Amino acid sequence: MLEFIEQELADLQARGLSRSFKSVENISGTKITINGRKLINFCSNNYLGLADDPQIKAQACAAIQAFGFGAGAARLVSGNTILHDQLEEKLARFKNRAAALTFSTGYLANLGVINTLVNENDTIIIDRLNHASIIDACRLSRAKLQVYEHLNMTSLEKILQRSAKFRQRLIVTDAVFSMDGDIAPLPEIIKLAKAYQAITLVDEAHSTGVLGETGQGIEEYFGLTGQIDIIMGTLSKALGSLGGFIAGSQKLIDYLRNKSRPFIYTTALPPSACAAALAALKLIEEDSCLVRNLKRNTTLLSPQSATPIIPVIIGQADQAVALAEKFFDRGIFLSAIRPPTVPAGSSRLRITVTAAHTKEEIACLASSLQELIPA
Ligand SMILES: Cc1ncc(COP(=O)(O)O)c(C=O)c1O
Repeated sequence: MLEFIEQELADLQARGLSRSFKSVENISGTKITINGRKLINFCSNNYLGLADDPQIKAQACAAIQAFGFGAGAARLVSGNTILHDQLEEKLARFKNRAAALTFSTGYLANLGVINTLVNENDTIIIDRLNHASIIDACRLSRAKLQVYEHLNMTSLEKILQRSAKFRQRLIVTDAVFSMDGDIAPLPEIIKLAKAYQAITLVDEAHSTGVLGETGQGIEEYFGLTGQIDIIMGTLSKALGSLGGFIAGSQKLIDYLRNKSRPFIYTTALPPSACAAALAALKLIEEDSCLVRNLKRNTTLLSPQSATPIIPVIIGQADQAVALAEKFFDRGIFLSAIRPPTVPAGSSRLRITVTAAHTKEEIACLASSLQELIPA
């Protein structure tokens, strides 16, 4: 029984695709300790450096004192606290929407919204490089999945033209693509969606707290506030907490609260995660330096990059892993990203800059990049 497991694991090993952990012993700002060595972390999604901000830690600790750690039940049983309510109100305001609903993770938010809104009578039209959670949600929904070429609006329009027979057409895109750092062409997507009466769902995992003058996200970046039908986001990246959310009309949120299985049948977010996300949103609103510092640091490392995700494409998986080890030896933590997370032949080092990195840390990475990966 299960003999195939041994064979498949050996196969992954032989192709340089086997996955294992590095265990972090301590995190302090941009520094992490692994095997007793302190390294500069250039591969976290903690874009604003908020995950260990003292004010956020204090709020999370206060929530633990008041509520304990686990919520103890699903939201619709006894797991809903005033912190969940306050967080959803604040998220809705931050995203300029009537209402918001939190999920236990961003992955579940994608599952929870897509799967609930479409079925076998519908089609979902997605960018080829959308996140795995969107693809998994589409598969679960039983809607017909159609894929357009990455950022290619001609390809999207061709699919829209031949999809009139479906009850609903749902266009889904990442706002900022997680492994490439490029930005979805929102103005063109909105235009096409309006022309073909399609619904738009945008995953703002990597744009919330990142894009736009105040970090509101992709709508602020393009000056298109209120134009996306459904916004999905995570609390786990720039907000430094845990959890996902959907923001949209009151009716949409009421519907999801009643119908979305990944929302209903799981334990509520720990109240401390809500408190941390609430504190993060407050800090982002009050301290405009956070978003500005992120942009400044991004430009310092890569003047042409519009987002803090800077991929360095290496090609073969084993080469990417070997290179990551060389950076490790120099005190820089970068993780090699390999298939199936990225397409075959495009294994890479995915560098992420944060607002918390110092000039010296960025200079250290830049000089190591020049020495280890000469142009
Ligand atoms: C684009 C995108 N969507 C969704 C998710 C899932 O979010 P979470 O890690 O909060 O489950 C991620 C991150 O893993 C992501 O990169």
